[in-house]
Amino acid sequence: MKNQKIVIIGGSSGIGLETAKQVISLGAEVVIASRSEDKLHKAKEMLGPRAAAYVLDTTDEQQVKSFFEQVGKYDHLVISAAETSGGSFLQLETVQARKLFESKFWGPYYAAKYGAPKLSAQGSITLFSGVVAYKPMIGSSALGAVNAAVSNLGQTLALELAPIRVNIVSPGIIDTPSRSKMPENTRNQFYATVADKLPVKRVGHPEDVAQGVLYLIHNHFVTGTVLHVDGGHTLT
Ligand SMILES: NC(=O)c1ccc[n+]([C@@H]2O[C@H](COP(=O)([O-])OP(=O)(O)OC[C@H]3O[C@@H](n4cnc5c(N)ncnc54)[C@H](OP(=O)(O)O)[C@@H]3O)[C@@H](O)[C@H]2O)c1
Repeated sequence: MKNQKIVIIGGSSGIGLETAKQVISLGAEVVIASRSEDKLHKAKEMLGPRAAAYVLDTTDEQQVKSFFEQVGKYDHLVISAAETSGGSFLQLETVQARKLFESKFWGPYYAAKYGAPKLSAQGSITLFSGVVAYKPMIGSSALGAVNAAVSNLGQTLALELAPIRVNIVSPGIIDTPSRSKMPENTRNQFYATVADKLPVKRVGHPEDVAQGVLYLIHNHFVTGTVLHVDGGHTLT
């Protein structure tokens, strides 16, 4: 990782932040980007001098384009940025489902589109899908569909952007700040219920998924793969 520049969009929280920590500990330089200046500031303090931070909303195509113009040449791209939501199909407002696609599909789409031309030919892109694409769940119609769309986008890009490698991580239920708006009791109850059903008997930690991302960055024989880091969730 020495002298490698890794761009992590969504690197101010959760899995993206943990990935940033791990690649920095291996000697890389990191560029993190997300919307909230406050989150970026805290993350940069944690990551130290080998991290640079940029304010970016991936749902704005022009912002994504100018972000990559500022970043210049780099070695690997990780796109963990997304704000997700769910809800019963008949009750969920269509506008909410469209918002989810703006964030979780179009954001990564723009990032891959404007990020790929600046990537090293030996570089890689890692996109994020999620377990509900592979194990349909009640209340996750739009989320399942958008995750499946991201996986397919990644596999097609693995062909089209070659020799750049493109892979997809599909996390299971991971304890990250993405559920910070849930009341603590409800969240803990949810994690306990999920853990009980999983072969590994626990929910995931950001470290579990970051290790998967590092594997995809490192292994030059892996492209077009969906790496399930879900504690066996899809088997249940
Ligand atoms: N945690 C899970 O259980 C789980 C399960 C399956 C899949 N995943 C996927 O894993 C990925 C990472 O999730 P996480 O749990 O690490 O989430 P997280 O802790 O909420 O982190 C998400 C990051 O994305 C940034 N972000 C959100 N919307 C953005 C936008 N429009 N433009 C730029 N940055 C944006 C957030 O910062 P700002 O708010 O400052 O923008 C934050 O840095 C996501 O794609 C998620 O769908 C997670």
